[in-house]
Amino acid sequence: MTQHQHQHGQHQHGQDHDGNQEAGHDVEQLTDHEYWNGRYASAEGGHFWSGSANEVLARETADLSPGTALDLGCGEGGDAIHLARLGWRVTAVDVSDVALGRAADHAAEAGVADRIEWQRHDLAETFPTGAFDLVSTHFLHFRDGTLSPHVLRAAAAAVAPGGTLLIEAHGGLPPWQDEISDVHFPTPEETVDSLELAPGEWEVLLAERHPRRQTNPHTGEAVTRTDQTVKARRRPLV
Ligand SMILES: C[S@@+](CC[C@H](N)C(=O)[O-])C[C@H]1O[C@@H](n2cnc3c(N)ncnc32)[C@H](O)[C@@H]1O
Repeated sequence: MTQHQHQHGQHQHGQDHDGNQEAGHDVEQLTDHEYWNGRYASAEGGHFWSGSANEVLARETADLSPGTALDLGCGEGGDAIHLARLGWRVTAVDVSDVALGRAADHAAEAGVADRIEWQRHDLAETFPTGAFDLVSTHFLHFRDGTLSPHVLRAAAAAVAPGGTLLIEAHGGLPPWQDEISDVHFPTPEETVDSLELAPGEWEVLLAERHPRRQTNPHTGEAVTRTDQTVKARRRPLV
């Protein structure tokens, strides 16, 4: 997916869009593979995220019949494992082989290893093949905070007729980083527009902002962030 341009120059030196610092490195010099592997490898306690499924994923897929699913930017596999437990056959993709290795271990522990295929892609360069009943992506922001319209359009194109596209993303910077960046986080409406969905072929079910509680990693304080959800259904073939 060579058309996507990473705009690494927009974020503050040594710091990503979540305000995490990469000690001793100029993160702009790292590939996404190196950068994300570094973040996962440095995680205390052997895990970086909670390991649980995202609430939005669990809620917005609860009424779907299990089929095939594609999880883009799967991280340590919480969403993929949740779906596999419900009977989905999941293709889960990430740029970090450290995250994928950890996710595969978690899937084996959960007894669902045979229902998940892990694939490493830098989605700015390559994209998995196939059509899926669910294509889901949660917080697949590139390091400068942007959501790649090119990747999101590829995600929509990978939804099979009758299938569902679910995009969860941050709606803005965390409060502890507000002052340092000029990143534009798209509104839900801009995200929908960027998908360039074929008229008549899709029904947009959700395009909304919502609050989410999170802990400030620097102070331990609970803060409220704004996230956004876009959910669309591709109409079945008649
Ligand atoms: C904020 S984490 C979210 C992980 C998981 N979806 C979750 O909600 O817990 C973003 C994930 O996207 C992955 N990622 C970032 N850039 C990527 C790229 N260019 N190609 C593939 N994955 C990427 C990272 O490795 C990371 O696992």
